[in-house]
Amino acid sequence: MTKSIAVMGSGNGSNFQAIVEYFKGKDVKITCVSDKLNAYILERAKNLGVDFKYLPFEENAEYFGANNFDLIVLAGYMRILPPDVLNLGKFVNIHPSLLPAFKGKDAIQRAFFAGVKVSGVTIHWVTDELDGGKIIAQYPVLISNEMHFDEFECEIHALEHKLYPIVIEKILEDKVFDFADLLGGCGSCKGGCSQCH
Ligand code: GRF
Repeated sequence: MTKSIAVMGSGNGSNFQAIVEYFKGKDVKITCVSDKLNAYILERAKNLGVDFKYLPFEENAEYFGANNFDLIVLAGYMRILPPDVLNLGKFVNIHPSLLPAFKGKDAIQRAFFAGVKVSGVTIHWVTDELDGGKIIAQYPVLISNEMHFDEFECEIHALEHKLYPIVIEKILEDKVFDFADLLGGCGSCKGGCSQCH
């Protein structure tokens, strides 16, 4: 059965494009949504022949209440979504650091100039806490002493473009699960809390 996803972004849209290219020829219908009328992500959607929509932040609840997506994918969406919107679907986000380190803006730069030796990319469920939802997938990037910032930034973006579509596909196939599920948690924590042991 055809799955349908919305990709929400406010800016460049390179992750959106990687997702579109990955799912070309597969049974997944993509809609691009942006809260910024002039965002390049909308231009990309037009060029790629993907349905797109300018969706002001205030209209999110109405839109996602009326349209049923299997998954809503944030890719450079620059606003925090409130619970009344998040309750209308499953939302995932990608962040260019190893969360919970370097939440928020300019994470690639802040990680690099802090001198960390390992950073990376995180995909996580979305909550109304900035970059705070439960982690689904992470992949590291090592930073050698010789590495320049531009090189590191390119590596992070290339990794995002590779990892995000694969994880989205696994979620759509229902193949992403929490190992704690297998252990049968207490019901509220899904395993690992003091009550479960
Ligand atoms: C990416 O680095 C993503 O991790 C972050 O915002 C950036 C979006 O880039 N959340 P793009 O719009 O997909 O090119």
